[in-house]
Amino acid sequence: MTKEISKVAVIGLGTMGAGIAEVFAKGGYAVRGIEYNDAALDRGRAILQKSTGRAVKRGKMSEEDAAALIGRIQFSTDNTDVSDCDLVIEAVNENPELKASIFRVIDEAAPEHAILATNTSSLSITAIAAVTKNPSRVVGVHFFNPAPVQKLVEVIRTLHTADEHVDRLIGLLRSLGKEPILCRDRAGFIVNALLIPYLSNAVRLYEEHYCTREELDSAMVEQAGYPMGPLQLCDLVGNDVALAVLERMYEETKDRRNAPPALLTSMVEAGLLGNKSGRGFYTYDEKGATDDPGPVSLPRQTRGDELPLRLVAPYLNEALRMVQTGYAIPNDIDTGMQLGCRMPGPFQMLAEIGPKEVLTAQQAVFAETAEPGDKPVRLLEQLAYALAPASAVQDIRDWT
Ligand SMILES: NC(=O)c1ccc[n+]([C@@H]2O[C@H](COP(=O)([O-])OP(=O)(O)OC[C@H]3O[C@@H](n4cnc5c(N)ncnc54)[C@H](O)[C@@H]3O)[C@@H](O)[C@H]2O)c1
Repeated sequence: MTKEISKVAVIGLGTMGAGIAEVFAKGGYAVRGIEYNDAALDRGRAILQKSTGRAVKRGKMSEEDAAALIGRIQFSTDNTDVSDCDLVIEAVNENPELKASIFRVIDEAAPEHAILATNTSSLSITAIAAVTKNPSRVVGVHFFNPAPVQKLVEVIRTLHTADEHVDRLIGLLRSLGKEPILCRDRAGFIVNALLIPYLSNAVRLYEEHYCTREELDSAMVEQAGYPMGPLQLCDLVGNDVALAVLERMYEETKDRRNAPPALLTSMVEAGLLGNKSGRGFYTYDEKGATDDPGPVSLPRQTRGDELPLRLVAPYLNEALRMVQTGYAIPNDIDTGMQLGCRMPGPFQMLAEIGPKEVLTAQQAVFAETAEPGDKPVRLLEQLAYALAPASAVQDIRDWT
């Protein structure tokens, strides 16, 4: 039964949940914000007040609108308080048992037509849905931090999720000014599944004395037009975060390319987490990166001239695999990487570089690594051998 969404519950008002509640309340929806006790509720309310207060200070919202926004949120400490909600978004801590217990409760308490969504970053949506009686209404909605500001939202469907719920959710997010992108349920969704292996490849090249960290980072910035080099970005994302995503991807795929590089693991063990710990691939002081030598000594042989294609080709190969396997469409992948990482979209890059050049570079990667996953995907070969490769790339960019 399809029904208009008018009331939204958000469970867990931490960093993400408070931001998500703000998004819906700002859009005029009645919101129920739920925490597990009064003290946690006070913390959630404070996050909301701070965020809306900041928007008022910056002139992005009037004081009256901020007060009206908060006024649209009813607070509760009861997870069963969702019986009048059309959409329930769970944003509690990243703990599978906790999430499963919440889904058991909301599955019973929410009306039959309600969509049940989780904001998990790394857990299987399918496994979360499996604890419910009706997994067809369970979907992933992965907001980015800070949710009121970041437009990108990954919407994740499982093998069970009904089209009707996906369509309603995507329409709703668009009406709130968000840019939803759709994918299936695999570790890393779209953005992390492309970003983190790209970072891991860079770490591996550095670890293998392929080139210096400066060569790696400047090739990606100066030649590929990325806003930041991969080792700088790994430090910024947090080497522990990158490691956790890789571990999860490796666990799911058993693809050795996703096995964390030994250097990354030992850096995390040594506390070299990146910007947040003051030291990672670079050492940071209050002015930024210093000129310390970094965790790996100088390369034995410099192959910096093979950059940036040595890093870009596997990244594009993976994006093409996503399309070839029906995991996501090119436009959504480009939007995800542009909005989520400020990186050029892979299909935009493929059009600029040309599929023939990318295929040649990826063949060289495969010849070197002999990893089955590095074999150029069929779609890349088809584009490269097309009579008019540029228009063939444009054709697939238009796929919906
Ligand atoms: N922080 C990020 O950048 C980010 C980005 C995207 C997605 N996520 C995902 O969003 C989810 C929440 O992350 P976060 O960073 O907001 O965490 P957080 O720790 O800031 O917030 C979690 C909140 O859940 C509440 N909570 C715990 N148990 C509860 C219960 N039984 N009932 C109701 N509320 C309960 C906690 O009190 C806390 O306020 C996680 O799944 C995380 O992976 C986080």
